Amino acid sequence: MARITVFDTTLRDGEQSPGATMTPAEKLRMAHQLDALGVDVIEAGFPVSSPDDFGAVRSIARDVRRPVIAALARTTEGDIERAAQALAEAARPRLHVFIATSDLHLRHKLGIARDECLERAARAVELARRHTDDVEFSAEDATRSDIAFLCRVVEAAIEAGATTINIPDTVGYAYPSEMRSIITTLREAVKGIEGIVLSVHCHNDLGLAVANTLTAVEAGVRQVECTVNGIGERAGNASMEEIVMTLKVRGELLGHDTGINTKEIYRTSQLLALLTGIHPQPNKAIVGKNAFAHEAGIHQDGVIKHRMTYEIMTPQLVGAPGTRLVLGKHSGRHALERRYRELGYELSREDLDRCYRLFKLLADQKKTILDEDLITILHHGTMEDSPQVFRLAELEVVCGGRTSEARVRLANGSGPEREATATGDGPIAAAFAAIDTLTEMTVELEDFTIRAATPGRDALGEVQLRARVDGKTLTGRGASTDVVDAAVRAYLHALNKAVYARELEARALEESSYLWGV
Ligand code: KIV
Ligand code: ZN
Repeated sequence: MARITVFDTTLRDGEQSPGATMTPAEKLRMAHQLDALGVDVIEAGFPVSSPDDFGAVRSIARDVRRPVIAALARTTEGDIERAAQALAEAARPRLHVFIATSDLHLRHKLGIARDECLERAARAVELARRHTDDVEFSAEDATRSDIAFLCRVVEAAIEAGATTINIPDTVGYAYPSEMRSIITTLREAVKGIEGIVLSVHCHNDLGLAVANTLTAVEAGVRQVECTVNGIGERAGNASMEEIVMTLKVRGELLGHDTGINTKEIYRTSQLLALLTGIHPQPNKAIVGKNAFAHEAGIHQDGVIKHRMTYEIMTPQLVGAPGTRLVLGKHSGRHALERRYRELGYELSREDLDRCYRLFKLLADQKKTILDEDLITILHHGTMEDSPQVFRLAELEVVCGGRTSEARVRLANGSGPEREATATGDGPIAAAFAAIDTLTEMTVELEDFTIRAATPGRDALGEVQLRARVDGKTLTGRGASTDVVDAAVRAYLHALNKAVYARELEARALEESSYLWGV
């Protein structure tokens, strides 16, 4: 059993993802989370590339003390000096130097011969060693390099003092058996390789980054380079969460572990998505929105009876919210009955039969069935035309400063209009807070989206939201040329549904046709 070093390059290679730029402050926040996650090495940036990158590496080196902090440099003296300066205050600095070794790159990109490449690699490692004992050397485009030449360069780098040798599959071209063969050859042919840490860095152009990384581990590699959510150049890098969870879930097969606190995985993924605006696709392994959602009836039934029937790990293990049974056209009676029970209804066999029939009809027209649909089905009412108990009479907001303020006047049924003022982090939050004071309802916002429904500057802003009120998930929609107004209307829409649901429930209770759960 070996302890695999997790080298996280989210802040360097990951940030090279189109649109993933982070400010130095955001990088520092992410670095603290990577520390909490338990990564061994944080590659904080490429200091010579910009003053911002330099600043980010320097502040991370200063503030984040447990993991090794690495900075990238080409083989030039200028790059290495700049990276060393950025790392000056690090508790555990690592200089990471790289040069391409494939003939394609040497000829067309660098315009140098193999001998020159060999010399530059060795010299750069020597220079880096003057600053720190922890020096990593990467042979860019290693997997498309002549293997005999790759062995020579790696040997020269080790002789010059490299302590980690990294084999990048820079363009995501390698196939797992090829990766195994490269690592095996290096381990057999290179003098001194047993004394260093061998690493891989795989890109995902063919979707094989994680497979190549794990095959390399099987072949003897002990450091894996990866990014959170698999972000990175083009199709991205090997995904940290997929590598770590495969090592954990298939531990009996692979026999290695990492120092990652897996319960921090989901939080880390969410933070990165928040900072970059790049969200993992819904079906992304481990951290996607649907990674622990089950819709097929047979699957839902199985998970209800024993979760391991269709779940190889629990969502809790990666810190994700619990298993979601998504009600849709593939859901069965068991899942429907369970959701009604969670909403507080114990249905008789006849009611369940009737609801299930209506549910199936509705599910043919609507992809996802929400709690409000179930309540509608049960009570034969329609939520769409739920009475508007709360109506917006007036809205005024002051925003643009540190906090925003909103004054909301609401009509409540046939009673007098009432008004409240509240502050919040933005005008929408302030307006929602004012409404909460007036309605005295506890609302948990689960989802909120604004989009321009029409083109142009005077576009109609459409707000769709999902909120949890009284333990039920309800949707709200509103549209206006003013997005705060649209948001308030969407919020009131959901609250009016909640009031109506209460009314329907009260009526049903009076008629005593349902037994209520606790
Ligand atoms: O993909 C690559 O080759 C790299 C190196 C700089 C390690 O990112
Ligand atoms: Zn890379």
